[in-house]
Amino acid sequence: MPQYHHHRKDMMLFLLWLLPSALAAQPSAPDPISAPLRSLDFGQLNFLHTTDTHGWLAGHLQEPSYSADWGDYISFATRMREKAEAQGQDLLVIDTGDRVEGNGLYDSSEPKGVYLSDILRHQHIDLLTSGNHELYKKNTSEAEFFTTVPNFRGNYLASNIDIIHPTTKELVPLAPRYKKFTTKKQGIRVVAFGFLFDFTGNWNNTVVQKVSSTIKEDWFQEAIRDKEVDLFLVIGHVPVHSPEYQAIFKEIRGIRWDTPIHFFGGHQHIRDYARYDSKAFGLASGRFMETVGFASIDGLNTPKSTHLSSAVASPVFKRRYIDQNLFSYYHHTGLDEKSFPTEKGQNVSRLIAKARTDLHLDQVHGCAPHELWMSRVKYPSPSSLYTWLETQVLADSLKDERRVNVPTLAVVNTGALRFDIFPGPFTQDSTFILSPFTSGFRYLKNVPFDKAQLIVEVLNKQPQVLQASQEGSSPTTLAPPEQLAYPEDVVVDKEPVAFDQTPLSDSRKLVPGYTTEDDAGKDGDDTVHEPISFYRVPNCLQVLLNNSTETPETVDLVYIDFIEKYVVQAAKIAGLDIDVAKESDVYMPQMSLTNLILDWVKKNWKC
Ligand SMILES: *[C@@H]1O[C@H](CO)[C@@H](O)[C@H](O)[C@H]1NC(C)=O
Ligand SMILES: *[C@@H]1O[C@H](CO)[C@@H](O)[C@H](O)[C@H]1NC(C)=O
Ligand SMILES: *[C@@H]1O[C@H](CO)[C@@H](O)[C@H](O)[C@H]1NC(C)=O
Ligand SMILES: *[C@@H]1O[C@H](CO)[C@@H](O)[C@H](O)[C@H]1NC(C)=O
Ligand SMILES: *[C@@H]1O[C@H](CO)[C@@H](O)[C@H](O)[C@H]1NC(C)=O
Repeated sequence: MPQYHHHRKDMMLFLLWLLPSALAAQPSAPDPISAPLRSLDFGQLNFLHTTDTHGWLAGHLQEPSYSADWGDYISFATRMREKAEAQGQDLLVIDTGDRVEGNGLYDSSEPKGVYLSDILRHQHIDLLTSGNHELYKKNTSEAEFFTTVPNFRGNYLASNIDIIHPTTKELVPLAPRYKKFTTKKQGIRVVAFGFLFDFTGNWNNTVVQKVSSTIKEDWFQEAIRDKEVDLFLVIGHVPVHSPEYQAIFKEIRGIRWDTPIHFFGGHQHIRDYARYDSKAFGLASGRFMETVGFASIDGLNTPKSTHLSSAVASPVFKRRYIDQNLFSYYHHTGLDEKSFPTEKGQNVSRLIAKARTDLHLDQVHGCAPHELWMSRVKYPSPSSLYTWLETQVLADSLKDERRVNVPTLAVVNTGALRFDIFPGPFTQDSTFILSPFTSGFRYLKNVPFDKAQLIVEVLNKQPQVLQASQEGSSPTTLAPPEQLAYPEDVVVDKEPVAFDQTPLSDSRKLVPGYTTEDDAGKDGDDTVHEPISFYRVPNCLQVLLNNSTETPETVDLVYIDFIEKYVVQAAKIAGLDIDVAKESDVYMPQMSLTNLILDWVKKNWKC
């Protein structure tokens, strides 16, 4: 099982906030911390992979381990390509979706994403796909269709996504289904596909075909029967350990028993590596620009190599998870502050800084007194982000003028919050990082208290109970996606790590961070870290408000609108005999969860 850990440091935040960093491109980014590093093993064909970046193209401005930005990544990819090509090898750059939603750089512009797509397009990406977040809203998928697909013309693949063409109203592929190409130096013949997991939450202007149906279509069957192929490349917004990728693997293997296959995946926000057989592997490269995945294959049969020997050994697959900071980038390219940056990379770093200024992302709304963690501490507890939301934010601020003093059971899915809070400035950017969604609240009145409680209980059993009955599909969840990687009851409870202030120059002291275990072992991370604990949280948190007794007879059941369809199902199971969709109403009109939190921060967290 993959292990989920991430890392942060709140070192000298105020100081770094004011001083331009000597190394990193975003002026307020902290300097990376030197740490013991594992090297990259280059092969004939090399890959860099990002996934689930969710708008974090400025990098992490409060975490030194992930403090490089998209401009630095452009320089890195360029230098890596130069290095590979100088050795007669190839490099491909891949992104597997969920580029949108989750960071002020995307969410705070109007329209959303105008700065982001302009920054994104400067990276040379050889292959990319859509995630589920690109498809929740009509205008988001249309922005993909009109902007991102053309920006990466020919490289954006959509094997199982169609869109209703905004002008002709015809159902058309979002992007080409697949692509065949030959690599520049090695002449490796590649057939590439681009998938999305069996997602059902998309807006009705797009159609996501189930992977198991797509792979039975003629075009796919023909593509995998092509004999002039040295490597199948399956990229997608799909977990690497998933029924969907297992199905694709089996389908290709059934026809091509011997052709190497490389998968690249995502969606669960974890670092993970899957071994399907000795010639088929899959890499998932984390989330939020914390991780750049590296993979390589050596010993591929190519038209150039086959004449040399007919008994070529089995290809060798390697993987590495790179912490997204300049210390790692310099190390892996063998370059330094002077020789590493490219002009284009520096231009893009400036473009990001300009966008952040235009969008006022550094505007401070308050100052957080201490850390609030999603999964580093137990829930409930004083440092739990969810406990804070329940007992402080919702308890103080959730009230609809029309329902004053009515006992209220409020339910919010834990997945509505996306990131930890660090002590120090809570900025405009922090707001979107914490909760990028536009969801507001709805409620049902006069719900018998026992039924309301039962509904929450049922919601907390999802996906087992509520998962749309989709055999052979990846589960979805109301909890943070990271949790999907864990079997039901497992808690990774590592020794607590003290957050002492590691001196920047001390390279021997390990910094807490990712310590990944995957199908290839425990040595995948480039940076050697001290492990971090991971605690599960329920799908939904709940808080009882304005109750004069512990067991009121009836309550207003208030829930975040994003989960209404699950509430409908849960109400049925709980035996509540009402038409939820009809009888529910808006609670606190015009108020989103994000703004509720922001207002609370402004009132309560003075700097
Ligand atoms: C989609 O529409 C909403 C509501 O009008 C708007 O706020 C948002 O910026 C739009 N998004 C895009 C990608 O155009
Ligand atoms: C999509 O949903 C909207 C809102 O529910 C509805 O008005 C529209 O007719 C639907 N479109 C299609 C193609 O089903
Ligand atoms: C970088 O920006 C400068 C100034 O706008 C421009 O002249 C130059 O062509 C850009 N360089 C690259 C490689 O994009
Ligand atoms: C709860 O009661 C307090 C005190 O009467 C009141 O100020 C607040 O608005 C009430 N909240 C709700 C949700 O009714
Ligand atoms: C209201 O409900 C909460 C949570 O169940 C409970 O802790 C509290 O004691 C209740 N208040 C009263 C006055 O009973």
